[in-house]
Amino acid sequence: MNASNILVTGGTGSLGSLVVDRLQNGSYNVQALSRSKRPGTVQGDLLTGEGLEQAVEGIDVIIHCASSPTNPRQVDVEGTRRLLQAAERAGVSHIVYISIVGVDRNPFYPYYGMNLKLNK
Ligand SMILES: NC(=O)c1ccc[n+]([C@@H]2O[C@H](COP(=O)([O-])OP(=O)(O)OC[C@H]3O[C@@H](n4cnc5c(N)ncnc54)[C@H](OP(=O)(O)O)[C@@H]3O)[C@@H](O)[C@H]2O)c1
Repeated sequence: MNASNILVTGGTGSLGSLVVDRLQNGSYNVQALSRSKRPGTVQGDLLTGEGLEQAVEGIDVIIHCASSPTNPRQVDVEGTRRLLQAAERAGVSHIVYISIVGVDRNPFYPYYGMNLKLNK
C-alpha cells in the first residue's frame, strides 16, 4: 500500500488531532480536513460537500474521524457518502472509518444508531 499522502478528517478534533500528531512523526505527508481556515488544515465541509474534491486530490489514504453528534444524519451519514464519492473519483485507495467501542450494544441513542448503520 502506498500511504504517503494521508488526509485525516476531523483532524482538529479530540481523536483526529492525536492521529495527526502520531502520523506526523512517521514518514507521511499528513493533512487535516477542517471547516475552519486555520493554518495547517485543508478546508472542507462534509455538510455541504464544499472543498471535498480538492481535499482528496492526490490523497492515498483517508482516516475519517470527523463527526457531528448534533447533526449525525447530515454530517456522519450523508457527509460520509459525499466523502466516499469524492474519494472514489479521486482514486483514493484506502479509507479507515472510526467507530465507537460497544456501539452495537447501544443502538437506541440516535447518534450511536447512525454510527452503527455506517459501520455495517
Ligand atoms: N473522543 C472519544 O473519546 C471517542 C471515543 C470513541 C469514538 N470516537 C469517535 O471518533 C470520532 C471523532 O470523535 P471526536 O471526539 O474526536 O470528535 P470532536 O472532538 O467533536 O471532533 C469532531 C471533528 O469533526 C469535524 N467536523 C465536524 N463537522 C464537520 C463537517 N461538517 N465537515 C468537516 N468536518 C467536520 C471537526 O472539524 P472542524 O470543527 O475543524 O471543522 C472536528 O475535527 C467520532 O466518530 C466518535 O464517535 C471518539
